[in-house]
Amino acid sequence: MDVLFLSPNYPPEMPQFTRGLAEVGARVYGVGDTPKEALDPIARAHMHDYLQVRSLMDEADVMERCTRWMRGRSVDRVLCSWEPLVLLAARLRERWGVPGMSLDQVNGFRDKQIMKERVAAAGLRVPHSARVRSGREAWEAAERIGFPLIIKPIAGAGSADTFRVDSAKAMDDALVRLARVPEAIVEEFIEGEEYTYDTICINGKPVYENVVQYMPRPLIMRTQEWISPIQLTVRDLERQDVRPGIELGRSVLTALGMGTGYTHMEWYLTRSGEAIFGEIACRNGGACLVDQMNFTSDIDLYREWARASCWDHFEAVSPRLYNVACIFKRAQGRGRIQRIDGKEAFFQKYGNHIVRDALLPVGAMRRDWTQTLLSDGYLLLRHPDWNEALKMAQAAAQDVQLTAQ
Ligand SMILES: Nc1ncnc2c1ncn2[C@@H]1O[C@H](COP(=O)(O)OP(=O)(O)OP(=O)(O)O)[C@@H](O)[C@H]1O
Ligand SMILES: [Mg+2]
Repeated sequence: MDVLFLSPNYPPEMPQFTRGLAEVGARVYGVGDTPKEALDPIARAHMHDYLQVRSLMDEADVMERCTRWMRGRSVDRVLCSWEPLVLLAARLRERWGVPGMSLDQVNGFRDKQIMKERVAAAGLRVPHSARVRSGREAWEAAERIGFPLIIKPIAGAGSADTFRVDSAKAMDDALVRLARVPEAIVEEFIEGEEYTYDTICINGKPVYENVVQYMPRPLIMRTQEWISPIQLTVRDLERQDVRPGIELGRSVLTALGMGTGYTHMEWYLTRSGEAIFGEIACRNGGACLVDQMNFTSDIDLYREWARASCWDHFEAVSPRLYNVACIFKRAQGRGRIQRIDGKEAFFQKYGNHIVRDALLPVGAMRRDWTQTLLSDGYLLLRHPDWNEALKMAQAAAQDVQLTAQ
């Protein structure tokens, strides 16, 4: 089993996926733009060979170099679980005749308007929306859809350039800020709470499922620095409030013709209990989501993704034991972390439930919270009872405070 794996080094989950691939018996050919010497040791240790390209974002160049590199060899899989490269992986598969999801299938998970049209065509509830390529088209869509609305890039990530628009004035401002985005989408604004529906699928069938609640909604947490965002896995997937989202998610996978690999869907839960489709990607959720899912059931989904991808097989037994919370922290002030208040008391009280402390240490430079949800580090904790897990997560959000100077 020879696997070409795009970006084995970044984002931080990828070295673990590289390990997973090697552990299920694949020979991993990694392709990235990191120099060999600077690779994560876990990625390096589990690759058979590595090709450094100039830039992973230069699709034509990467296709050419990979084709030259692989000449005379055959690959059984071309895999990638990082959003900006999922289309490139599909292009390579099509060019080389390697099994896996086609460009058209993957596009349904990448282009926010195409995905919504396909999901809506299956009779599922999506926000009303329109693809727009100019200010005039955006205004036409706004008149049809009405305020409040959302305007965002057609292939966005991390809530970048995503605006809630409540008035004509706000619309003008948003259009100025989106001037450099060639294609945007205008959407009906959905009030509600936000959840994910995550899976590992084999030939479109989920062999693993997960739900996470975001607190607060991503657009708010991504734009307000003082907030400590929380994401919490839902241990009990039989819970009545999340069932509609799971049912919706399963139908979406069918509507989009999912193949094999991870999916990460976001959905809205309205006050009336309705689940409305948000967006979906054919890769794992970022930040700490895979670790959170692993800690929910004490399993290794890095390896199981690899097993599913290579051998169409999923081996983990995944009893849902815990609600796992990730609390991302942002320091007050600029520069280096100078103090961490409340951490000791928090650990004394809840130490048994903390499964990872990844807060930046005193002396470390702050990270750019607008660029990474990981911000100035995070805590992972877990509890079998939802309310207890939530209470601890909120305590971590409020009582642990980092200060920088
Ligand atoms: N139609 C909508 N109604 C209400 N809120 C929305 C809508 N569209 C987007 N949002 C808000 O903006 C956030 C980002 O939008 P979306 O998830 O589509 O983009 P993204 O940048 O790809 O996200 P990610 O951060 O998951 O990469 C959503 O999580 C939600 O909080
Ligand atoms: Mg999103």
